[in-house]
Amino acid sequence: MSSQAARLQRLDPADAGAIKALHDVHLAALAADDPDGPPWPARAQAAHLSGAPPLFEPREAWFVAAPGPGPDVIAWYSVRFPDKENLSWAVMEMTVHPASRRQGLGTMMLRHAARRAADAGRAGLTGIIRHGSAGDAFATRAGATKGIDEIRRVLDLRKVPAGTWRQFRESLATAAAGYRLDCWEGSTPDDYVTGIAEMFNTMNDAPRNAEEDPSFYDAARVRRDDEQVARLGGRRWVIAAFRAETGEMAGYTELRVSPDLPGWGFQGNTAVARRHRGHRLGLLLKAEMLELLAAHEPGLERIATWNAAANQHMIAINEQLGFEVSGSPSCFTDLPVAALLPQS
Ligand SMILES: CC(C)(COP(=O)(O)OP(=O)(O)OC[C@H]1O[C@@H](n2cnc3c(N)ncnc32)[C@H](O)[C@@H]1OP(=O)(O)O)[C@@H](O)C(=O)NCCC(=O)NCCS
Repeated sequence: MSSQAARLQRLDPADAGAIKALHDVHLAALAADDPDGPPWPARAQAAHLSGAPPLFEPREAWFVAAPGPGPDVIAWYSVRFPDKENLSWAVMEMTVHPASRRQGLGTMMLRHAARRAADAGRAGLTGIIRHGSAGDAFATRAGATKGIDEIRRVLDLRKVPAGTWRQFRESLATAAAGYRLDCWEGSTPDDYVTGIAEMFNTMNDAPRNAEEDPSFYDAARVRRDDEQVARLGGRRWVIAAFRAETGEMAGYTELRVSPDLPGWGFQGNTAVARRHRGHRLGLLLKAEMLELLAAHEPGLERIATWNAAANQHMIAINEQLGFEVSGSPSCFTDLPVAALLPQS
């Protein structure tokens, strides 16, 4: 074992001090790499680092402490093992403090993660990098295969004149005639669980990486998702559209707000079932959400959304609402675990 590898410690999920130190590294890295991007809200990141089955997929995190006393961290990685689909993957996130880069810490952690992935029976180590970043150079050097591009867009609510969303909604009344909307915050109402499972399954129509499995939801998985959201802290707002005459759920959109980062909203899924497309429900749902947020989340300043570069329909909706590209695109990366292990 190299001396660097000897400094790696496994994160104790109950160690709030260490989790905070990992978050501090995340904030320092973001300031250096992607200053326009929203950070992970602290509680959400803590839940992601410490979550355990059956609520969360199996996962673990490892970190390198700075020399000397105290829990100060200079580098860390987390790896999770999907348990519903993509069962051959281990999904990795890795951060080295900007002051400690180009010293081999990333390479050491990547090799360590590959060993953990191999021990868990996973063949591929996947991650996300931004084009043109240190992570891009690192992944290229490691021999990673790149997947489809994702583009972040941000809507600055401070620039939007009052009444804009109501006008949007009114302009869509004819196209969306015959549909009604309902909204809620938090857990999915019992009557809607089956409809929401279908909406999650509709997300499989969005562009995804060639190697990525579709994900299938049933009522139990919707409830697991609800519990995960509750564990992350904050509020999840959902608006769904229903065919008025049948009561069938036709589409939905969700957005999250964290008390740890009150200025930012995080757009989640938006889906319209195939048989209900062409009624401008996607635009209606999102305009309605923005109107709801103006009333219930007065502290919100910006909303971030991520779309596959090829997702023209969703991007067209976002641009109509005023979302603008923010930062360089990111993409999925995949590395074969076997290539990262020492040859025997
Ligand atoms: C990517 C990251 C983890 C690399 O950590 P690191 O400790 O600096 O990596 P290493 O020292 O092991 O670098 C290994 C090689 O990658 C390449 N590399 C890494 N950073 C680079 C950069 N900024 N520019 C060019 N090449 C770079 C080099 O070939 C380097 O070898 P060299 O220093 O001998 O030339 C770090 O920059 C980081 O935390 N970035 C932000 C988060 C991120 O993108 N994570 C990866 C996605 S999960």
